[in-house]
Amino acid sequence: MSKLHQSGDFLFKQIYDYVVHRIERKEWKKDEKLPSVRQLAIELNVNRLTVLKAYQLLKKEGIVYVKDKSGYYVLGDIQEHEKASIHKPILSLPQQQNRLSAIHQEKVIYNFSQALIDPNLLPNHFLSDYVKKVFDLYPKVLSTYSTVQGDEELRQLLTDYFVGQYKTYVEADQLLIISGSQQGIQLVAQTFIKPRDYVLIERPSYSAAIDCFRAHGAKLIPIDITPEGYHLQQVEQFMKQYKPRIFYLNPTFHNPTGYTVPPWQRKKLVELAETYRCLLVEDDAYHDIYFDEEPPPPLYTYDSGNTVLYIRSFCKYISPGLRIATMICPVALLQALLTTKSLADNGSPLLNQKIFMHYFSSLRLQQHIEKIRIALQIRKEIMEEELANTGWSWISPKGGLNLWVQLPSYLNTEHLYSQCLKESISFVPGSNCDPTYQSTSSIRLSYSYMNERQIEEGMKRFVHLATK
Ligand SMILES: Cc1ncc(COP(=O)(O)O)c(C=O)c1O
Repeated sequence: MSKLHQSGDFLFKQIYDYVVHRIERKEWKKDEKLPSVRQLAIELNVNRLTVLKAYQLLKKEGIVYVKDKSGYYVLGDIQEHEKASIHKPILSLPQQQNRLSAIHQEKVIYNFSQALIDPNLLPNHFLSDYVKKVFDLYPKVLSTYSTVQGDEELRQLLTDYFVGQYKTYVEADQLLIISGSQQGIQLVAQTFIKPRDYVLIERPSYSAAIDCFRAHGAKLIPIDITPEGYHLQQVEQFMKQYKPRIFYLNPTFHNPTGYTVPPWQRKKLVELAETYRCLLVEDDAYHDIYFDEEPPPPLYTYDSGNTVLYIRSFCKYISPGLRIATMICPVALLQALLTTKSLADNGSPLLNQKIFMHYFSSLRLQQHIEKIRIALQIRKEIMEEELANTGWSWISPKGGLNLWVQLPSYLNTEHLYSQCLKESISFVPGSNCDPTYQSTSSIRLSYSYMNERQIEEGMKRFVHLATK
């Protein structure tokens, strides 16, 4: 147990559970001495009082006993828990959970919880053509690893793309190909976060990022995101006060709100982060999914040094299954991230990288994106029409896949969620998107996964349930 979720009383309970698990699994046997309070506190990087509190509870419950001036000892086997504990692992990350993934496990007919694009809108036939092409061009593509950093041809292609789009210099050597932006978030947390490090994060935020940072023991400090962006004074104050290791942010068609941070704030934010030596981790999964105007350039284009780590995913609108995303890494951080990536998977699958590369460099890509934008805008409008008479409020997003809808405060969204599941409807309750897990009367409704008819029908049922 190297990392703990750090939050007051909860921490001592984790230490208590940890000791109980080890005794249950007979790793610590009857009359064996427990590590001293000091030892365990150092090992787990927690306060001695926290360990003492856990040991005292273990003593009170008759699990351990004290020998004067010698320490704490195991009293005996914990028979009653034995059977149940055989399959119970000792988690190194006791706070491990992914609430969004749990919601996605639910099989429902009207799925408004998946921020994924309807598979019928994705380029399935074209991709299968490219699979054949890739095998012709690289017959041994499955017989080798990719380099850990990612296929050189693909990195060069993406580098040319970024330089062409944003006119900001980057080198192919700064790119790291990753298996979806989710892996990027995980690599960042694993590489840079120690238990009890402060991490700034938007409120609301992408649920699986919240869970990932918490699993690594981070203390999350919420930064409110509004239609106008951030309160920069608040950001500065928190950077000064907490000296956070990173600020994880999703400033373009933000998940779940759809807000986009304006260019002047992007510039100022990079300056602030430089001043306070806080790494900005910019997650950009929705950049190309806009309805009218192209969004402002990413934050990394305002960075002249080592301040922004950019994560750009292409999963949403090309192929979630290929799992292709990239990082643009500040040079100083690259080696550490490469090591973490190599420990995770030795590099993303080469076949997927090559298929993606051929599709991405084809003329079909542009037509496909344009088609997607129109289809999603229509679906968004259908969802909005169905909500029009509810009196609920939301700000119509200019891109992305979600509506962030404020329901009346008397509605318990968790309860509504369970009711909806019974009617085969899903959405994401706002508490999942809150870094402090507070309940909220907002919910996330994705308009991207269902077709027009399903949105119409499902929303009618949803509104009926929520308003009856
Ligand atoms: C903000 C954000 N980041 C990252 C991800 C993960 O996407 P992927 O791993 O498919 O690139 C998502 C998916 O919903 C997201 O909304």
